Amino acid sequence: MTDYIIALDQGTTSSRAIIFDKKGSIISVGQKEHEQIMPRAGWVEHDPIEIRDNMREVIGIALGRANLTRHDIAAIGITNQRETAVVWDKNTGIPVYNAIVWQDTRTQSIVNRLAGDEGVERYKDIVGLPLATYFSGTKIVWILENVEGAREKAEAGDLIFGTTDTWVLWNLTGGPTGGIHATDVTNASRTLFMDLETLEWRDDILADFGVPRSMMPEIRSSSEVYGEARDTSLLRETPVAGILGDQQAATFGQAAFDAGESKNTYGTGNFLIFQTGTEIVKSENGLLTTVGYKLGDGPTHYALEGSIAVTGSLIQWLRDQLGIISTAPEVEQLALSVEDNGGVYFVPAFSGLYAPYWRPDARGAIVGLTRYANRGHLSRAALEATAFQTREVLDAVNADSGVDLAELKVDGGMIANDTLMQFQADILGVPVVRPVVAETTALGAAYAAGLAVGFWSDLDELRANWQEDKRWTPNDDVEERERQLRLWKKAVTKSMDWVD
Ligand code: G3P
Repeated sequence: MTDYIIALDQGTTSSRAIIFDKKGSIISVGQKEHEQIMPRAGWVEHDPIEIRDNMREVIGIALGRANLTRHDIAAIGITNQRETAVVWDKNTGIPVYNAIVWQDTRTQSIVNRLAGDEGVERYKDIVGLPLATYFSGTKIVWILENVEGAREKAEAGDLIFGTTDTWVLWNLTGGPTGGIHATDVTNASRTLFMDLETLEWRDDILADFGVPRSMMPEIRSSSEVYGEARDTSLLRETPVAGILGDQQAATFGQAAFDAGESKNTYGTGNFLIFQTGTEIVKSENGLLTTVGYKLGDGPTHYALEGSIAVTGSLIQWLRDQLGIISTAPEVEQLALSVEDNGGVYFVPAFSGLYAPYWRPDARGAIVGLTRYANRGHLSRAALEATAFQTREVLDAVNADSGVDLAELKVDGGMIANDTLMQFQADILGVPVVRPVVAETTALGAAYAAGLAVGFWSDLDELRANWQEDKRWTPNDDVEERERQLRLWKKAVTKSMDWVD
């Protein structure tokens, strides 16, 4: 009996395999972290071979823990950190360079060169994105320009590109002996190369970047049978039937399918997605226009997105770089050891500032320090930074959509932090709501795969799976909310002043 769906979640810090049943409940999880390689300031890389091997391993762990085999699995869904670029030789399956991660800012000079006199918004009407180091396009250019022999090989048709969904799919379905080189519309919409209307690669933009079209994967929908797993005997012959970039997957897993529905994920960074239905809405307020999902031959659903580069990774930074906590959850105890932030504001512009500012030149800033400030205040300021950044993104969503969001559905690792969630509600002035199944990213990928093979019949069946777990209601101290926000915005201006 094929009673389950397995979701493969290739994230920024780890790879996971999660098995779900028909109710959308988690049956088992396999998870393995991979190394964050930071050779220089601003550079972030992953080893694609490590990721490939970890993915194989976690599939085994998840199946083993649940005592299941491939015969119990109806389909495989893939979800992934988006924008992270892998370029590999299609004849050997060996990457020519490490994966360049979405947070990496080394391509700023390529961005400047491409922007030229026309500016960073030159392709925005077509692809929904400004030119920025965040997206995959300039990362491919960097590899072609900096890895010896890469350009020649790419022009000879030997090198192919993929975001990590494509890397996982290609390896899972056969690698050099016939792997499928494809991606879905949501991941394709993060490259800078896909036309949002036609859902095809733009030859003119590829030519401007100097990226051969032969490197690009085929663009498919988010929910269809792409092929069967061949690589790992554990899932042999199981259909791979869903792919969604992780933020779109989380939105899908939150059953936020329709125009006006949204979610905010608290991961390494924060990503607020607001569905706009079949309409392509162009942002006037620093948001991205992106594809939400497309099920088989169905219509394309679009979304507005507020991306924040650094939220959860700031807590990791407190742990790994500063050493003021030894585990991430300790940040909450420290934050609670003080009454308030003591006037300290922390703008974590480690990769510049993303939405709504898009200022690559911004740098991290801690302001308002006095001799009184201690680790507690710093921890509190770090947590609050997540909430303030989210408030600014929500303001942009409200301004672009013309309606004020009545509540915010949340998911991701940091939502376990009660102090942060309460502060989030207070600073937004609207309730914050957490679902029972908080693993919405993997769930969304499972849903996409399950719909394609008839495991679930329609979106209503998925909507019925969504259940509220907890709700944080805002306090009504509007004056204090506005005072804090004013100070935060002032701190942000300091981080943007910091130009050499
Ligand atoms: O756009 C980047 C995003 O997809 C990464 O998400 O959850 O791996 O931090 P996450």
